[in-house]
Amino acid sequence: MINKLPNGPSHPAWWQLICWIQDSFSYLKECAKSYGDVFTLRIKGVPPLVVIGHPLGVKEVLSQEPNKFDVGRSNYIVRPLVGDNSLVLCDGKRHQQERKMLMPPFHRQNIQSYAKFICEIANQVADRWQEGQKIIARKVMREITLEVILQVVFGISQGERYYKIKPLIGEMLDEIDSPLRSSFLFLKFLQRDWGTWIPWGKFKYCQTQIYKLLQDEINERRSLPLEKGCDILSLMMSARDEAGESMNDAELKDQLMTLLLAGHDSTATMLSWAFYEILKHPTVLEKLREELDFSKNLAPLEIAKLPYLNAVCQEVLRLHPIGSIIFPRITKTPMEIMGHYFEAETWLILSVYLVHHKKELYLEPEKFKPERFLEKKYSPYEYFPFGGGNRKCLGVALADLEMKLVLASIISKFELTLASKKSVKPQRRGISISPTGGIPLIFQRQRKIFSNKSLD
Ligand code: HEM
Repeated sequence: MINKLPNGPSHPAWWQLICWIQDSFSYLKECAKSYGDVFTLRIKGVPPLVVIGHPLGVKEVLSQEPNKFDVGRSNYIVRPLVGDNSLVLCDGKRHQQERKMLMPPFHRQNIQSYAKFICEIANQVADRWQEGQKIIARKVMREITLEVILQVVFGISQGERYYKIKPLIGEMLDEIDSPLRSSFLFLKFLQRDWGTWIPWGKFKYCQTQIYKLLQDEINERRSLPLEKGCDILSLMMSARDEAGESMNDAELKDQLMTLLLAGHDSTATMLSWAFYEILKHPTVLEKLREELDFSKNLAPLEIAKLPYLNAVCQEVLRLHPIGSIIFPRITKTPMEIMGHYFEAETWLILSVYLVHHKKELYLEPEKFKPERFLEKKYSPYEYFPFGGGNRKCLGVALADLEMKLVLASIISKFELTLASKKSVKPQRRGISISPTGGIPLIFQRQRKIFSNKSLD
């Protein structure tokens, strides 16, 4: 067989890099129009990337044995954010072991214990808003999701260390919060510490402070009698691998940083898109409120099972995936995917954006229509906002619960409107893609009257 990579744009590699950083959604769409479901991008600084934008190709990749691909080494771009020992950078046996150690606290049944806490945090944050106040959805959602992940990871919500770490994480993320600022992740020569007046220096400063606080927390826990808490740090500290070894401090800190970053920014971004779409579509808002009003006496976990609320969240994740692609898969052996033959060391890119916007799968794909998820069940290869296979998002159960409960808590009680009627475009912010401007909202008045209408 001939190892010829599929066709793709012939733009110079530096131009493809700019298009990718600037607006990967539009670039992928443009390429798919010209080259079809499988094409090759040649972006400066990375090996050729074979983009796959068809559910068949997604299935052929994600249903293979995990040992057929390396994934961690393709994520090198996030190394400066999460450190060398992060789960997202591991492969093979090490990845399998670390994931096994980190997974239990994120299982659906363990996450459920956070339901009440998530509602409380959402209410506390919303209670601070003043009548007529303009709030930026992404900023306030980040406040909520950061608080939740800190509680899940450390089991604390008080104390000096906690109050120091919260703003530092926000400041650190702000340093990569625009296409220009995030360039240093893609361009290694910008990763020089010339002091805190340039983004990389400020970013490094915040990161060092956070690592110090994490080390203090670890030292304090080590000095206390071994008490089995159910927070993730306690579980990580007591976990042992097959050889009976525990994680060293460097490993603990990198995994903590990974969970803190992966665990709050993406959920906050999805919540911001959710507010945008719900408030832009009054019929969706009305239907959602009807469902929530009817179920107002249910326990949080029951609320999280409501069908329309579920459909709304699924549609938000379809229309606005957190990135245009999931983690790249690097083939370790030759293989055939969608009739194309690939040698070992080929970088395969599954585009969640292209698949989620395929008109053969989703009628009027650019429209926000939660009903489509009530009418049809999509396969994990047609709909995969959390990726799949052995790298599927570790926090899927937490993110799902959080999105539903934060939306339900706020939408059912408060009146919010979009501050602008203009449509909002996605923009690269660090490694994820989120709404330009963060979605400004106006907090109008407290919703006092709950209807008791039946859903029938
Ligand atoms: C709505 C919010 C979220 C979205 C859309 C999301 C999406 C994703 C995606 C697409 C991947 C890559 C999967 C793949 O390539 O197959 C991923 C990986 C990951 N996510 Fe999330 N995520 C979210 C929230 C969270 C939360 C709350 C956590 C909690 C800690 C988390 C932790 C992780 C970790 C650790 C990985 C790496 C898994 C591995 O390499 O084995 N994510 N996520």
